[in-house]
Amino acid sequence: MSIENKKLVLGITGGIAAYKAAELVRLLVKANIDVQVVMTEAACHFITPVTMQALSGKPVFIGMWDSSISNGMPHIELSREADAILVAPASAEFIAKLVHGRADDLLSTLCLARDCPLLVAPAMNKQMWESAATQRNITQLKKDGVSILGPDSGDQACGEVGLGRMLEAEDLLAAVQAHFTPKLLAGKRVLITAGATLEMIDPVRAITNLSSGKMGYAIAQAASDMGAEVTLISGSTALKAPNNVKNISATSSDAMYQAVMSNMNEQEIFISVAAVADYSPAKKNNQKIKKSESLLTLELSKNKDILAEVASLPNAPFCVGFAAESENLLAYAEAKRKAKKLPLIVANLVGESMGRDEANITLIDDEGIYPLPKASKELLAVAILTHIKQLLK
Ligand code: CTP
Repeated sequence: MSIENKKLVLGITGGIAAYKAAELVRLLVKANIDVQVVMTEAACHFITPVTMQALSGKPVFIGMWDSSISNGMPHIELSREADAILVAPASAEFIAKLVHGRADDLLSTLCLARDCPLLVAPAMNKQMWESAATQRNITQLKKDGVSILGPDSGDQACGEVGLGRMLEAEDLLAAVQAHFTPKLLAGKRVLITAGATLEMIDPVRAITNLSSGKMGYAIAQAASDMGAEVTLISGSTALKAPNNVKNISATSSDAMYQAVMSNMNEQEIFISVAAVADYSPAKKNNQKIKKSESLLTLELSKNKDILAEVASLPNAPFCVGFAAESENLLAYAEAKRKAKKLPLIVANLVGESMGRDEANITLIDDEGIYPLPKASKELLAVAILTHIKQLLK
C-alpha cells in the first residue's frame, strides 16, 4: 500500500519556476520517492544540473547522447523504469511539443516513448497561459489522458498578477502522492471531524483543548487520495485545508453537531477524530465578564456526544472513534468502543500523539487489538483507512 520507492522521472523545462523544482526534489526524496531528474537545455539556464544531482542523489540526464546510459537508448530505458513522469515546470513551448508528439530532445522523447502516466505542471506568464493556443493545447493534453496540475494564480516573475504560476512544491508533492495512492476507497463517501472545539465563555474567552487537527487532516487527505469523496468538519485548527476535500468550519461542539448531522446524508464512513468538548458554558455571555469576586464559578452543561448520536442512527454509517487517554489506554478505549457501539476505535496516549507529527496508535475492533509501529500521522492515516476498508468487506 506504500507509495515509497515508486520511481518518478522529474522533467524540468526552461522557466523561472525551475528554482521551485529544487525544493520539489528535496520533498520527493524525503517522501522516499525514487526521483530521476531529466532537464532540457533551456532548464539548465535557470537552475544547474549540479544542484539537482546533489538533491536527488543521482546523475541528471539532459542530452540524448549520454554514454552513461547502459543500452544507449536513454529515452527507452528511463521511461521503461518509471512509474510516472512529472514535468515541472512545463513551459508553453514544451506543452506544445507534447501535443504534437515531437521528440527533439531527451525529455520530449521519453515522454513520447513512455508507458506510464504523465503529469504536467504548467508555469508561464499569464498572457501565454490564457492564449488560445495554450488553452487548445491543454484541452488536447487532457483528452490524451495527461494530468494537468495547476497552474496557480498570484504574483508572477514578470511583475504581472494572474494565472500561470507553477504550483508550490508541497502541492506538487501532494499531487504525486495522491497519484501513487491505490484507490481503495473509490466512490466511498467519508465524513470526518477534526481539530479542537472552542466553547465561547464570553466574546474573548473560550474553553478549548490541545488537539492540533493533524491526525484528522491526514486521514481526510489520505481518504481523498484513496478515491473517497471526503467531507471534513473542522474545529479549531491552524492547518491548511487538505486538497480535493469539502472543508466545513464548525468550531463549537454544537456547530459541529449541526454540521455533522446536516452532512450525514449517504455517508458510508464516519471518522470522529475531533476532540469535542464534553461541556460548554451553560450561559452565553454576549459581553466580557468583568473581574469582581475572588472566586468565579462557571456553570457548564453537557454537550451532545456527536459520535454516539451518529452511531445510534437507524442507517448509521461505519463509525470510527478515537480515544485519547492519559492512562489505562486499552481498557478505557475498549469501554468507549462498547459504550458508543463502534466497530472500530483508535486508541492513543495523549503524551505520545497530541500536537505531534508522529504517533503511537492501537486499533481495536471486534476481532482483536492491533498496535501499530510509531509512524507519521500521514502513514498512520493510510493504515487506519486500509483497516477500515478490510472491515467493510
Ligand atoms: N466525541 C464526540 N462528541 C463528544 C465527545 C467525544 O463525537 N461530545 C467523540 C470523539 O471525536 C472521539 C470519541 O468520541 O472519537 C471519544 O472521545 P473522548 O472525549 O476521548 O471520549 P469521551 O466519550 O468524551 O470520554 P472522556 O472525556 O470521559 O474520556
